[in-house]
Amino acid sequence: MSTAERILHILRNDPGAWVSGEELSRLLRVSRSAVWKHMGSLRKDDYGIESSPRKGYRLTRNSPWLLPAEIREGLETSALGREKIAYYRTTDSTNTRAKERAAAGAPEGTLVIAETQTGGRGRKGRVWFSPPGEGIYLSLVLRPRISPVEAPKITLIAGIAVAETLIEAFPGLDVHIKWPNDVLVGAGKIAGILTEISSDMDRVGYLVSGLGLNVNTRRFPPELEGIATSLYLETGRVLDRAPLVRSLLQRYETWYTAFLQEGPGPMLDRWKSLSRTLGTRIAVETPRGRRSGIARDLDRDGGLLLEDDEGRMHTIISGDVGTP
Ligand code: BTN
Repeated sequence: MSTAERILHILRNDPGAWVSGEELSRLLRVSRSAVWKHMGSLRKDDYGIESSPRKGYRLTRNSPWLLPAEIREGLETSALGREKIAYYRTTDSTNTRAKERAAAGAPEGTLVIAETQTGGRGRKGRVWFSPPGEGIYLSLVLRPRISPVEAPKITLIAGIAVAETLIEAFPGLDVHIKWPNDVLVGAGKIAGILTEISSDMDRVGYLVSGLGLNVNTRRFPPELEGIATSLYLETGRVLDRAPLVRSLLQRYETWYTAFLQEGPGPMLDRWKSLSRTLGTRIAVETPRGRRSGIARDLDRDGGLLLEDDEGRMHTIISGDVGTP
């Protein structure tokens, strides 16, 4: 923990209470002028810190930014977001940054997070709208001992983590997952997942799991209107993003660990219970053309089993689901 993080920890211990500069300097074993300098840098990060010559310091407001210290406060994971959190005010794409770090040996659980992305990437070369300070744009480095064909299941896990986080925070919301990776509230897309892997023939070397969630987004560009939604648009509330990130990481880790230890069964069942796709009539754009039919089930690898109008079953490994 950095000295600034330790200061925050002490100030949060008794919210609203004053802590003298002398006490802080004693607890942290730094000079009083060092305490004063750290207070200046915390204020630059938009923490509300009141100071009084006689009483000392107190915290009046948390930073609205997704700073590592904000995410770590009360985070109950053992790997995800534990080792390293790489925080960017702006970057082109957190997935690109995470891939660079993974290629350089970053450990499992490394988290890359940004306030805005200038080149946020979606599936199929699409752009992910990433307005500053409004959404959650993050990527995780994972190193599961699995074969490349199993990688799509990690996408399903990410979808479950997002959906459960939203359901827990807003039990009344109509949250579902559209195969393979869109999290919907009602008919609007609120989150997307982009999984990228580096592997040889039979082993994944590393996997980058990128996730974008529209939290306080007020307006979308015209091409996304009627397609995308945000928690702000659904609930009318401006939300603190750090608790959502913590919940996402915790749920992600729970399902990821269960998958690695027990196999895909429980995770696939959970995904099915959250699905908007299964049992409905759909059309899928696949690399081999368009197919339509009823989405019947998932196979053990997370592929979609589609029954066409002649009653034949097809396994769809990748594609875009729409209405026929
Ligand atoms: C999709 O639905 O097409 C996937 C969208 C994934 C967006 C996230 S935002 C964080 C991470 N960095 C990226 O460039 N993309 C993913």
